[in-house]
Amino acid sequence: MKQDIIKIFDTTLRDGEQSPGASMNTEEKIQIAVQLERLGVDIIEAGFAAASPGDFDAISKISERVSKSTVCSLARAVDRDIKLAGEAVQRAKLRRIHTFIATSPIHMRYKLKMDSSEVIRRAVDAVKYAGEFVDDVEFSCEDAGRSDMGFLKEISDAVIDAGAKTINLPDTVGFRMPHEIGNMIREMREHIGERAVISVHNHNDLGLAVASSVEAILNGARQIECTINGLGERAGNASLEEIVMILKIRRDIFSKLTTNINTREIYPTSRLISSITGIEPQPNKAIVGKNAFAHESGIHQDGMLKNRETYEIITPDDIGLDINDTLVLGKHSGRAAFRTKLEKLGFELDDEALNSSFERFKILADKKKNIYDDDLRAIVTNEMTKSTQVYELISLQVMNCSGGVASSTISIQKDGKEIIDASIGEGTVDAIFKTVDRVSGFNGRLMDYRVTSVSQGKDALANVTVKVVFNDNEPAIIGHGLNIDTVLASAKAYISALNSYLSMQGMLRKNDSSVETV
Ligand code: KIV
Ligand code: ZN
Repeated sequence: MKQDIIKIFDTTLRDGEQSPGASMNTEEKIQIAVQLERLGVDIIEAGFAAASPGDFDAISKISERVSKSTVCSLARAVDRDIKLAGEAVQRAKLRRIHTFIATSPIHMRYKLKMDSSEVIRRAVDAVKYAGEFVDDVEFSCEDAGRSDMGFLKEISDAVIDAGAKTINLPDTVGFRMPHEIGNMIREMREHIGERAVISVHNHNDLGLAVASSVEAILNGARQIECTINGLGERAGNASLEEIVMILKIRRDIFSKLTTNINTREIYPTSRLISSITGIEPQPNKAIVGKNAFAHESGIHQDGMLKNRETYEIITPDDIGLDINDTLVLGKHSGRAAFRTKLEKLGFELDDEALNSSFERFKILADKKKNIYDDDLRAIVTNEMTKSTQVYELISLQVMNCSGGVASSTISIQKDGKEIIDASIGEGTVDAIFKTVDRVSGFNGRLMDYRVTSVSQGKDALANVTVKVVFNDNEPAIIGHGLNIDTVLASAKAYISALNSYLSMQGMLRKNDSSVETV
């Protein structure tokens, strides 16, 4: 039977990064892109080149690393955005520019302050200009879900004539019911025919993003825009893992439709994203939630023991979750076993990264009896995604004084020199952050502070995520710290945010002439 491929367009690095608290640094984005390629996504939307020098840099570096998936940058329908998008994806083997303009009456009137003929003119100009940089141009009618059908047809005809190969019809505010999305796609498909691929991009404001995407597929959409763990603006986007598993598990319905996704890479990808962003999927989230394969009640456990299919329609193995093999290496394990285990988890490390990860593993193995897959993933990810280290923590001492006041003394290395300083604060974490501020001369404003436990046990690794504003005119920076000791992990997280901020500053200076922030 001839199979029809549903293209998976992953926007975790662009729309997903718009989730509050999900900003990632360049190294982290590269690791995610490499994993998305391993997962088999067709198109990686690596960012929005004109948004910031950091985005531009990440897209350019991803373009050099990824060869099987298409690398794409978002661009508003304005020349400057398109030029930067074109330059950012220039080195990718397969490249795409995704340009968009809003088409709904409310957006055109209040946001764009343009009439429909002006919107069409801008869209056509944008698509033609994008075509000067790449062969593969996608055009999105932002807020298509609330746009007039006649106008959607008119603008689609115009941009297809101008060279767009994919027409994306986003439900930007997640307003439509699945059957309404289905009707819109059927009508557009009948109108467009084979002239372009029809894509959908559904937001989850009413919890319908996946259902609407599936309805779109049934009515002729052949590209789905989605994110890992359903990350994204506000309530998020359609979740990649749910859509892909629906197509796989319900072959009886979707027999002729398939994706290029290797579903056994779903779980490792989900873990990578949550360990980098510090955002865990809700425990009862379909496919990748902590409880997705947990059977709690006696009746269910009894059924499972007799025949797994009584209560299980997906096996952990289908998504690459090895439930019998989570207890891993111990303190006597050698480098070869360590490397083999990492390869099994999907990491390809060069010698330098392997050595430093192995060192961190040994230190951890001395303190922690059982080391789990999640511990290893966290260590390696943390090691691989470290930004340039201007400041490095050498040692830390904290003391709780009376009345909640605490003091901290920190020794930090910068440019090979050791700096020791101390401060007091409202509690230990505050005292530590104030000491780092004293050493660096910055006055960071903490916007968010989160601790998650990486695996199980009282000696579990703590993953601390902080969000800090170092300059009121610039966006908040995310930092991560990993340690058995939550206090130490907090210090590392704050210093990692500071290091990312400083490396971003360096990038700003380097790119001053070519890239401005929007
Ligand atoms: O939600 C949306 O409409 C978008 C577009 C830029 C595709 O993210
Ligand atoms: Zn979106």
